[in-house]
Amino acid sequence: MRRAIKVKGYELVNVLGIETSCDDTAAAVITDGTIIKSNVVASQSDMHKKYGGIIPEIASREHFTALIPVVNEALEQASMTYKNIDAIAVTNGPGLAGSLLIGVNSAKGLSMSWEKPLIGINHLEGHIYSAWLEDLEPDHKAGFPIVCLIASGGHTDLVLMTDHLEYQLIGRTRDDAAGEAFDKAARVLGLGFPGGPEIQKMSEEAKEEILPLPRPEIKESLDFSFSGLKTALVRRAESEGFYPILESNGPSHYQTTEYSFAFQEAVVDCLIRNTKKAVLENNARAVILGGGVAANSRLRKRMNEIMDVPVFTPRPGLCTDNGAMIGAAAFFNLQNGLPSELDMDAVPNLRIGLT
Ligand code: KG4
Ligand code: ZN
Repeated sequence: MRRAIKVKGYELVNVLGIETSCDDTAAAVITDGTIIKSNVVASQSDMHKKYGGIIPEIASREHFTALIPVVNEALEQASMTYKNIDAIAVTNGPGLAGSLLIGVNSAKGLSMSWEKPLIGINHLEGHIYSAWLEDLEPDHKAGFPIVCLIASGGHTDLVLMTDHLEYQLIGRTRDDAAGEAFDKAARVLGLGFPGGPEIQKMSEEAKEEILPLPRPEIKESLDFSFSGLKTALVRRAESEGFYPILESNGPSHYQTTEYSFAFQEAVVDCLIRNTKKAVLENNARAVILGGGVAANSRLRKRMNEIMDVPVFTPRPGLCTDNGAMIGAAAFFNLQNGLPSELDMDAVPNLRIGLT
């Protein structure tokens, strides 16, 4: 059963969700916060691949050209026109300043010309609400409080969700985000960008952890630290002579697969260890996994095996950045009334759950 509250005056609420915080230009039409009518993502990763990471100037330029065609495609796939849209939601932070601005300013323009309300959504809240898409419904199936692990390229946060829209930040990374760590490790191993999926793929060829790496832990805290793990990989790679990668060296296939597996296993262990601790400390009734790293098949499998409470994980395509999660989060925010946020700003360092 879906949450019974409706935004005043509407039977079904269709939200256009727009997401441009990083390197994906995305738009989706979401009905009642859970039903995906369309979900279009134009990835820029091919553009950034040759630089081994995201170039902010290229990202905003690409958003600028891709956004309106992506919005049109989302409407078309939903078999709707702008007249069927009840509200426009856009990520207003955190993220790259230039990328966010393209989304926010375009959404403002659409809001004015279509005469539709506009709402700004925290990207991290979007990753949490991706767990409400496609009838996962953690609130009805398990109830609050819920521990949310948001692991992406820019963040690794543990957020205690005590009710809809009520958050406390209970853990965060002190240095690199988990996704950033995957991306850096992939570079050391001579793999492409983004690193997470590449490392996952190579890991599948390794059977067990022959070359274990450390699991950095911050005592008495739910915080994470991944920079030491990356350094440990660099030291091993240097001592085995395959890093820095020059023309004549580079890791063997065996080294790539074994170290991919070892690195993935260490990151997954750290994420699971702190999430489990957070569940116990807060008597949580469920776990939500969100963010690009939550697409990792090993993390998904092991989290499910180890947790004593249900784990709600959107399918991989909804863990990485998308507009559907922004539309879902907007629906629940819209329960508080229809806003008009034409003075909204992009906030690159927006946080979640801080009082
Ligand atoms: O949430 P997201 O799409 O964008 C940000 O908000 O940052 O996350 C992107 C990050 C990248 O660092 C990427 O390497 C990582 O998520 N990622 C993965 C996987 N798919 C994407 N990491 C591990 N395993 C994956 N399958
Ligand atoms: Zn994200």
